[in-house]
Parts: sequence; structure tokens; C-alpha cells
Amino acid sequence: MGEICKPNKVAHVLILPFPGQLGHINPMLQFAKRLISKGVKATLVTTIFLSKSVTLSDPTGSIRLETISDGFDQGGFAQAENPETYLSTLKSVGSQSLANLIKKLGETGQPIDAIIYDSFLPWTLDVAKQFGLLAAVFFTQSCAVNSIYYHATTGLLKLPVEEPDVSLPGLPLLKVSELPSLVSHYGSYPAWFDMVMSQFCNIDEVDWVLVNSFYELEKEVVDWMSKSWNTGTVGPTIPSMYLDKRVENNKEYGISLFKQSLSPMTCMSWLNSKPKGSVVYVSFGSHAELGAEQMAEIAMGLKASNCYFLWVVREPEKCKLPNNFKEETREKGLIVSWCPQMEVLAHESLGCFVTHCGYNSVLESLSLGVPILAMPQWIDQVTNAKYVEDVWGVGIRVLLDEEGIVGREFIEHGIKEVMEGERGKEIRKNAIKWKNLATEAVDEDPTGSIHLQTISDGFDQGGF
Ligand code: UDX
Repeated sequence: MGEICKPNKVAHVLILPFPGQLGHINPMLQFAKRLISKGVKATLVTTIFLSKSVTLSDPTGSIRLETISDGFDQGGFAQAENPETYLSTLKSVGSQSLANLIKKLGETGQPIDAIIYDSFLPWTLDVAKQFGLLAAVFFTQSCAVNSIYYHATTGLLKLPVEEPDVSLPGLPLLKVSELPSLVSHYGSYPAWFDMVMSQFCNIDEVDWVLVNSFYELEKEVVDWMSKSWNTGTVGPTIPSMYLDKRVENNKEYGISLFKQSLSPMTCMSWLNSKPKGSVVYVSFGSHAELGAEQMAEIAMGLKASNCYFLWVVREPEKCKLPNNFKEETREKGLIVSWCPQMEVLAHESLGCFVTHCGYNSVLESLSLGVPILAMPQWIDQVTNAKYVEDVWGVGIRVLLDEEGIVGREFIEHGIKEVMEGERGKEIRKNAIKWKNLATEAVDEDPTGSIHLQTISDGFDQGGF
């Protein structure tokens, strides 16, 4: 991190991700870690409910955890009647609780200088202002996706979309089906739609806009954003040890919301026993729920590909696996309920990632040079999949049949194409190119682009 006015004072930054989704907590945690490595004090804030299930591995003990209430301390999001109730309570109770936390930290000699908050929590800016704090909004999803949402707020993108193709600044021509589903299915998920639109309600007042992307990856749209806001590309938020493949140095910060059925070491030693580039890794992130029919098609597609596979099937999904599948494929496959994904993707045995295209999974795969078979489900994933295939050239999208299912033959064919086919050659070449560019972006040290300045409020020891 850049300049800090008072040489003797260590800046203290509060980092507030959207609660519950690993896809939001993970990148902000990794960013916190980078700040710490620059000598900044960083405190990660989760909700009271989440703090009971989050396992934070922090070998150095340097990252602090604090909690606020989202109004649902016993059950979190699942306890709320509906998304509307959760989001409005999170805002009202969360604002008050955050203000109390800032006061408490001030009173106990750990005053806050700045807040970095998830773009899904724009109300944080009001709390930051109440205390005269510097504020940065952190966008965890791609710049392309966020710019689509932004253009929907300004009316440049008219909703509902009636044209077959959409042309927006800095983006390729997009078919309606390639737009985030909150936009293409306008009206279907009103609470989530309002939330993504609200990301921009006060963006002009924020000190910095941070994006989990890197310049080469989304040049045109980053240039477009930089014209309006003080934008910093801080991605990819991948620890450099994975980019260097120094995975044996396991002293990393990690966060887990799910129990791992096998120890991470079992997963890694299974991968160690497989030839280079031979394993298909399958994961649909922390939320997606596939139907039993789709699970069966994936299972049969994997089996028919005859490749080794490591498949993350979360506990609630296990019952959807075809009978005896695990036993029948014991020689070829390992099924786990959760794994250390970055470590897995960094492993040289990986040859293909079958993913739902959650933004973190895409960014991790691309940064670690693993070709993708894209099976997007909804929201931003469809747009990410478009970029994977047509813009970054690091993968192939599978096709849905009339029932909205991806058939086993498409999965088998897609895996073979990525791992062995003619198209796969180009994809693998691009994957290496992007890995190198991502490594360069991390080496450039994106945190250096943020210059944190502090002023005195006259109470440097205790603040408010
Ligand atoms: C959510 C949305 O679904 C996604 O569309 C959006 O882009 C981000 O928020 P999620 O579905 O969880 O995220 O997917 P993703 O963004 O890929 O994040 C999953 C995270 O969990 C990744 O950082 C991945 O490394 C981690 N993970 C996943 C593990 O550590 N272990 C696993 O077994 C699976």
C-alpha cells in the first residue's frame, strides 16, 4: 500500500464482505492478506451467525476477525422469510451493528482509518461517512458484469431487453442469453436485482473503486470505468505461492464454510499419484444446486470420458449421485464434499475444470492456467462463460438440451475436446498466456495503486 501520512501510525482497515457467499469472502480475505503484507492492519468482518461456521486458517495470526449482526444471529440468510427481508434487515441492523463495532474498536485503542466494503453493501458508505472514514467499494464480480448492471441503472441498457443482441461500451456484442440472468430474466428475482442495481447508488461519493480483475483481462471496460471513478484493479486475488506452484509451502490464509469429507492432504496425495494434465476437476461452487437428472448426466459423461476426475459434491447433493457410481468409478475418480480449490487448480495433474463459472472459479482457473469446460447456471455465470469461450479463449461452453439439461455426450465430448482435441490445443495455449499475464499482474503488486492517506481528527489514539 502506498503513502501513509503519519510515518509512525499503522493504518487500520476494516474489510466487510457480503456475508454468506464464499465467492465474496474469499477474494476480500485474500486482499486483506495483501494489505497486511504491506504493513497495514486489517480486520475482516463477518456476521455473528457466520462466525460460528467459518473456519479461518491463518498461520501467522495477523488477520483479525470481528463480527456484526445481520439480524439473524441464529440462522443467517436461511432464517429470513425471503431475500427481501434478509437484505433490508441486513441493512438496518448491519449499519447499526457496524457503527457499534467502529466505536468499540476506537474505544479499545484500535481506531479505524478506512473501510473496504463489498459493493453489495452500499449502505456501508453512510456508516463510513458518519465516522469520517475513507471508503473503498470492492467489486467481487467481473468488471464486464458490473458494467452491464450499471448500464441498466442509467437506462443505456433498456429493460426488459427486447433486442436479440446488446451492444454496450467496452463489451463484446452480447446475446440476451449471455447477459446476467438478473437482467435477461428481468423481474424474476426482484430482491437480488435491486441489490445489484444498488451497487451504484452512491458510487460517485466513494474514495476508491476496487475491482477483482487485472488490466489485461478487461482492458476496455477498466478504461471505461476509470473515466468515471478512481478505479484500482487489485486482482487476481490469488496468493502468489499458487501462481509459483510452491504449494508445499502451505502457510496460507484460507477460509472454509464447509466441512471437508477428506483431509486436504488426501485430496492432494490422490492428485500426486496422477499423470500431468490428466485430471478433470469438477465443482459448482458454494451455492449451485443441480437436479438429480443433471448430476446423473455429469456422472455418466465423466465415466464415458475415461479421464481421472476429482468431483466436489457438497453434502446436500450427495443423495443425487447415481447408485453405485462411487464404487464403480473408484479406480478413476475421487468424490469429496469440499477441497482446497486453489491448491487443486495449481496442481500439475489438472487438465480441465468443469465449472459453473462463478467468477472466482473462473479467475482462479485462468490465473492458474487450467482450461475450462463451462456449465453456467445463472446470474453472472452465463456472462463469465461467454468471456471464457469467446473473449479469453480458455474454454468451451456446453449446450443445454430442450429441458435445460446438459447431456452426458456433451460433457464427454467437451472434456475430450479440452483435454485432447484440436480446439483444446489453442485453449491450452491461451490458458498459459493468461496464467503468465495473471502472474505479472500479481507481481506488479496491485495494492501499490492504492494510496491511503490519513488525516488527524485530533484523537489519534482513540478516535470517536
Ligand atoms: C457466488 C456466485 O454463485 C458466483 O456466480 C459469483 O460470481 C460469486 O459469488 P460461488 O457460486 O460460490 O460464488 O462460486 P465462485 O465465485 O466460484 O466461488 C467459490 C469459491 O469457493 C472459490 O474461491 C473456490 O476456490 C472456493 N471453493 C470451491 C473451495 O475452496 N473449495 C471447493 O471445494 C469449492
